[in-house]
Amino acid sequence: MKAVFYNTPGEAEVLTYGDVADPEPMPGDVVVAVEATALNRLDVIQRNGWFAMPGFTLPHIAGMDVAGRVVEVGSEAQGVAVGDRVVVDPSMSGVTENCRYAGMGDIYGELGIIGATLDGGYGELCLAPASHVYRVPDDMSIEHAVTFPTCWMTAAHALFDVGELQTGETLLVHAAGSGVSTAAIQLANVAGAKVLATAGTDEKCEKASEIGAHHTLNNRTGDLTAWVMEVTEGRGANLVFDHVGPALWEASVFSLAVRGRLVNCGGTTGDTVSIPSLGHFYHLGLQIKGSDPYRPEEFGPVWQHFCESDFQVVVDSEFPLAEAAAAQEKMLASDFFGKILLKP
Ligand SMILES: NC(=O)c1ccc[n+]([C@@H]2O[C@H](COP(=O)([O-])OP(=O)(O)OC[C@H]3O[C@@H](n4cnc5c(N)ncnc54)[C@H](OP(=O)(O)O)[C@@H]3O)[C@@H](O)[C@H]2O)c1
Repeated sequence: MKAVFYNTPGEAEVLTYGDVADPEPMPGDVVVAVEATALNRLDVIQRNGWFAMPGFTLPHIAGMDVAGRVVEVGSEAQGVAVGDRVVVDPSMSGVTENCRYAGMGDIYGELGIIGATLDGGYGELCLAPASHVYRVPDDMSIEHAVTFPTCWMTAAHALFDVGELQTGETLLVHAAGSGVSTAAIQLANVAGAKVLATAGTDEKCEKASEIGAHHTLNNRTGDLTAWVMEVTEGRGANLVFDHVGPALWEASVFSLAVRGRLVNCGGTTGDTVSIPSLGHFYHLGLQIKGSDPYRPEEFGPVWQHFCESDFQVVVDSEFPLAEAAAAQEKMLASDFFGKILLKP
């Protein structure tokens, strides 16, 4: 099959479009003909060598979000047939024996993740355990479905499982145009939270309002903490959902309400932060929580919620698979709102 892979970390030119071996399914697996994959920040930070997930090896085919049509079904694969349109749960926790990725489900160790540590969607074909593919409804486009796995699962797990967001609470979320945050804004809105969203341009702020943010701020020009206190009438945000890291960390901590929670799932601007004031931290009873990987049983219910709801998926742009380098450059330049898709 044709795929985009790289043998060494580096700039975008390490991405090679060429022939690789077709995936070899075991009895419990299926093979999906990829119709679309979505870019995620991890694709870029692993490629340029800034970070690697435990278990990451080279050569690597990125692409955690996979949607397409099943073209091969193992003899023990249940509940799925050749021709089904599916989306793939990329996290290999809960994979049973007789699947190629069995035993790779240690969520606090070397968790197998399609497109992160295992071959992913930057190829014409992708192998997945039958237990980890979900039917795409007939009236849902592949482009809509493929935006789901990484972003919506990450956001849902961080907001509700880890962050315990409640109806009526105030959420502060940054990088409103990122895939994860476009999902968080909508999930929180539907759950009855007030959503405060920040982004790096006024245009992105306007788009954040269009998908449900109640208040927005340009975080490069505005005073974040003062703005949060103003729009919450001095109370602060009950939950901050952060994946930007150092760039907005201190202001985020000072934007929290009494007993507020800051949930982090990433560090786009770096890996090191500090608590700016211990006195402020303990006096207000603040909590800083890491968002660990979602459990396999979380995927189905959130996917069902996504299928049954009128969420706006935000697709910024589409590139042919062979132009993956250009797509990744666009992501690195933050020149997008929503998801960038690749199509084989
Ligand atoms: N733990 C998990 O399971 C998990 C899963 C998915 C993603 N993540 C992490 O979540 C983060 C977002 O992922 P993604 O794929 O949604 O990324 P993305 O779409 O590339 O978005 C990253 C955003 O970071 C913002 N940003 C960059 N530099 C900034 C700065 N100096 N100040 C403020 N904002 C800045 C940009 O927004 P503006 O243009 O508005 O500045 C950009 O839209 C990544 O760190 C990723 O690794 C974690």
